[in-house]
Amino acid sequence: MDPLLDFSGKVAIITGVASGFGKQLSTSLHQRGAKLVVGDIDEAGMAELVESLGDNIVGQRCDVSSEADCAALVKTAQEKFGRLDIAVNNAGVGDAMSLTHETTEQVFDKQMAVNLKSVLMGMKYQIPAMIEGGGGAVLNVSSMAGLGGAPNMSAYAAAKHGVIGLSKTAAVEYARKNVRVNAICPFFSPTNIGAGFLKAEGTEEALSRGCPMKRYGTIEEVVNAMLLILSPGNSYMTGQAIAVDGAVSAI
Ligand SMILES: NC(=O)c1ccc[n+]([C@@H]2O[C@H](COP(=O)([O-])OP(=O)(O)OC[C@H]3O[C@@H](n4cnc5c(N)ncnc54)[C@H](O)[C@@H]3O)[C@@H](O)[C@H]2O)c1
Repeated sequence: MDPLLDFSGKVAIITGVASGFGKQLSTSLHQRGAKLVVGDIDEAGMAELVESLGDNIVGQRCDVSSEADCAALVKTAQEKFGRLDIAVNNAGVGDAMSLTHETTEQVFDKQMAVNLKSVLMGMKYQIPAMIEGGGGAVLNVSSMAGLGGAPNMSAYAAAKHGVIGLSKTAAVEYARKNVRVNAICPFFSPTNIGAGFLKAEGTEEALSRGCPMKRYGTIEEVVNAMLLILSPGNSYMTGQAIAVDGAVSAI
């Protein structure tokens, strides 16, 4: 195995693993030797993943908007595998799709809880555990909507901008402790989260037209970028919001 993508013996927490990026990333990290503690509210989907991977993986119900649940994942990683090297705060929910002036308090509060508070509550427990073991790498999943405006998704955009703020701040705070913190900002990929949004006629074509590569990123392409960011060899990259977007953000 290429040493840059060798995660043998690394202990990783991944949230949001029942589908999409989290599911594929769990599989890829596990294949490369990592031991996993995974969390999701979709217990059936998570159980399927855990069963398919077999050993060196623990699935634990985790609602990422709960501080106690975020803390419990870290406790499990330490109890079962003795350390924590990697954390990917990936779980997230889509927006209800409305103009800014039509966005409800309920929608905004849910976005803040699941897509933003979760990242702080995750890192709050993950980072001390990593420091205990000599360092580690956190990857927080933001979005293109974290780098610019996202029409009809103001609450989602606010949460994803916040994820970048949290990531950069933690990167600076813990740089001397050998904990790297980055955010990834994907454009669209065909996971469950955007399924409703993409149903609207013409959306898929319009979005692809706006991308210099004229297509979405596959789930695998985004996950490959995650692996590169997390790679133990990538030890000087921290505090970055990395776009994986077919050059959308370069226009
Ligand atoms: N797919 C895209 O186009 C895209 C683009 C940019 C960013 N993202 C981000 O990628 C991340 C992963 O999403 P995805 O695209 O794989 O979508 P997905 O819907 O396939 O996966 C999201 C996962 O998060 C889980 N989840 C939802 N709420 C949760 C909660 N409260 N606690 C724990 N788990 C919860 C779901 O059960 C699911 O397994 C999200 O943060 C999303 O905002 C996705």
